[in-house]
Amino acid sequence: MIEINRKYIELRLGGAVLFKECLPLDAQQKLVLHLRELLVSNPLFRPTMPKTGQPLSVRMTNFGSLGWVSDRQGYRYQASHPETGHPWPQIPHPVLEIWQACLPEDTPLPDACLMNWYDASARMGLHQDRDEAELNWPVLSVSLGDTAIFRLGGRERRAKTTSLKLESGDVLILQGEDRLAFHGVDRIIPGTSTLLDAPGRINLTLRVAGPVQSV
Ligand code: SIN
Ligand code: MN
Repeated sequence: MIEINRKYIELRLGGAVLFKECLPLDAQQKLVLHLRELLVSNPLFRPTMPKTGQPLSVRMTNFGSLGWVSDRQGYRYQASHPETGHPWPQIPHPVLEIWQACLPEDTPLPDACLMNWYDASARMGLHQDRDEAELNWPVLSVSLGDTAIFRLGGRERRAKTTSLKLESGDVLILQGEDRLAFHGVDRIIPGTSTLLDAPGRINLTLRVAGPVQSV
């Protein structure tokens, strides 16, 4: 079992929750080694914006039965890697354990884990996560490597935003009122972590993307 720190901060009542330093350093190191092995056959690709075909500054790949992709055809989930054509590898077990440890027992398991790689100059514009079949399940993200300046807004694009630092080992959960909150990454602060070989940040985002089978 992965050892985690379950102390959390309610960023907003009934909404976003931050597990600060959730993953201890040795768990972070083991996870990075595991991810690095998986990247050999499941490499990072550079997504492009729908319509314009403009490349995003992050590179990404996925784990799980569904993976998020973006290209001229739009944003969507699909079962295979857009470049290799192979199915995505399974979600690493320690990552599933984080989900189970941080969320209520009756939450369905995630079927999608997006891995974003931010180099020192990458960022992510303000957006909502709304490509999933059901928009009520929590979204959990794990930060590894250099600190990100994360921006959290409201359910409407024009709502006031706040910024917070996401450091290596932090776990952020968008749920309840904040499940559809606009969010993005303003920038990475290179040199704030020695976890990775190069300046940059890994973000793993776990989601329930497909419809949940009713029992
Ligand atoms: C995302 O919204 O896809 C990523 C957020 C992050 O990198 O923290
Ligand atoms: Mn997002």
